Amino acid sequence: MAKTQTVFTCAECGRREAKWLGHCPDCGAWDSFVEEVVAAAPKRRGRVAKTGDGAGGAAAGPVRLSEVVSSAAERFSSGIDELDRVLGGGVVPGSLVLVGGEPGIGKSTLLLQVLDSVASGRPALLVCGEESAAQVKMRAERICRGAANIDVLAETELDLVVQAVAAARPALVVVDSVQTLYSDAFTSAPGSVSQVREAAGRFLRLAKDTGAAVFLVGHVTKEGAIAGPRVLEHMVDTVLQFEGDRYRFYRTLRAVKNRFGSTNELGLFEMTDAGLKTVPDPSALFLSDTAPAAGSAVHVAVEGSRCFLVEVQALVNQTELAMPRRVAVGFDRNRLAMLVAVLGRHAGVKLSASDIFVTIAGGIRIDEPAADLAVALAVASAQRDVPLPAGAAVFGEISLTGGLRSCSQSERRIAEAGRAGFDHIVVPAADARRTGGRARGAADLRQAFAALLDGGGEGALFRATNEWGV
Ligand SMILES: Nc1ncnc2c1ncn2[C@@H]1O[C@H](COP(=O)(O)OP(=O)(O)O)[C@@H](O)[C@H]1O
Ligand SMILES: [Mg+2]
Repeated sequence: MAKTQTVFTCAECGRREAKWLGHCPDCGAWDSFVEEVVAAAPKRRGRVAKTGDGAGGAAAGPVRLSEVVSSAAERFSSGIDELDRVLGGGVVPGSLVLVGGEPGIGKSTLLLQVLDSVASGRPALLVCGEESAAQVKMRAERICRGAANIDVLAETELDLVVQAVAAARPALVVVDSVQTLYSDAFTSAPGSVSQVREAAGRFLRLAKDTGAAVFLVGHVTKEGAIAGPRVLEHMVDTVLQFEGDRYRFYRTLRAVKNRFGSTNELGLFEMTDAGLKTVPDPSALFLSDTAPAAGSAVHVAVEGSRCFLVEVQALVNQTELAMPRRVAVGFDRNRLAMLVAVLGRHAGVKLSASDIFVTIAGGIRIDEPAADLAVALAVASAQRDVPLPAGAAVFGEISLTGGLRSCSQSERRIAEAGRAGFDHIVVPAADARRTGGRARGAADLRQAFAALLDGGGEGALFRATNEWGV
């Protein structure tokens, strides 16, 4: 009989130690180590076949790659375009997908809609540990058309769940949530590192052995990491992050990791009382109809294959603190600090005694450096209390020297801004040249300011000539 062993595991990153530590040397978390009993040493089951052809049991020896059955053509649609795109073109049979997001963001809603649409053609199963079958039924009545074909399993004991799923042989399994499952082999509570890891490991084997696509729902912690171990992220094929403002209606879905497609894609949804609806025209969603105000600038964003306009808002106030505040919502805070320094040094915008707040309207997050110019202009416009001219849209990465660097997909961005009716488009000079002068080019921050903020007047501004080429 194997000896029972106690280990201390970091609940954030899964690091194991023989003794308790107050501070995790790997991920830096404080007070994150929990004691766990490793009963009968984790069993080493057979290795997982990676061929993805659904054939049970691993091949003992190497296999010629040309003889491996490709599963690319087998993808099936989840019934929701935005999700299919984020997954890289549909659901891959035999894949394990982790869907993370804050409580109330709409994970259960989205996956019930997926189950509903898949169940019309294939067997689909929902393992609900958080809600009773009756609660699921209530939601299904609200958001699904039929929902009659979905199988529901209200069980949290891991062995029973895995047995039942293996027997039912569904094409799609949704586990809501992985943190509610528990295995008797471990004494720790459901949701603890070893329980969650065991559950994910069992479903990984199940997915590879039976060819079922498995979606695990995982809650995120306050810090935004998928609760418990980051080790889960290494085990699964795809990690989807469902984000957005719970108090507003739209949500974004991104792939943080994807073995079957790009991680650049962005899925956009709107929460309605009939469930999540896809958003075909995001520009209309993120822009306000009101006249330009001081502190507002429009950025032309590219996320994966989507191009849309978002409004960057800034507020600059005299500070009452020794350390002025730099707060960014939906934008990187360090990047904001850098832009503030560049503004001071290269554009004469003095901000050292000001609190600065920057937010991307609509609760969306923009990570691309191309948003630099819009953020810088919004901050400068707020500081001077002068609005940008109507119809202004910009993009451009700002370098530490104050220069504007060219951005990817500039032609698409300019075309999208034109389509949305913007006619004062200011972009990095290199991009303006490349796109045939349909936008005004600025070599550096000062030139961008001259075009939009420094009272250059209408005459100094580029005027569209009606050939947007869209
Ligand atoms: N009757 C309703 N009408 C409109 N929206 C609802 C209704 N009930 C729930 N919702 C929305 O659904 C969200 C809950 O979604 P859910 O899928 O349960 O989230 P999660 O599983 O991520 O915790 C709520 O935040 C709310 O916005
Ligand atoms: Mg839920």
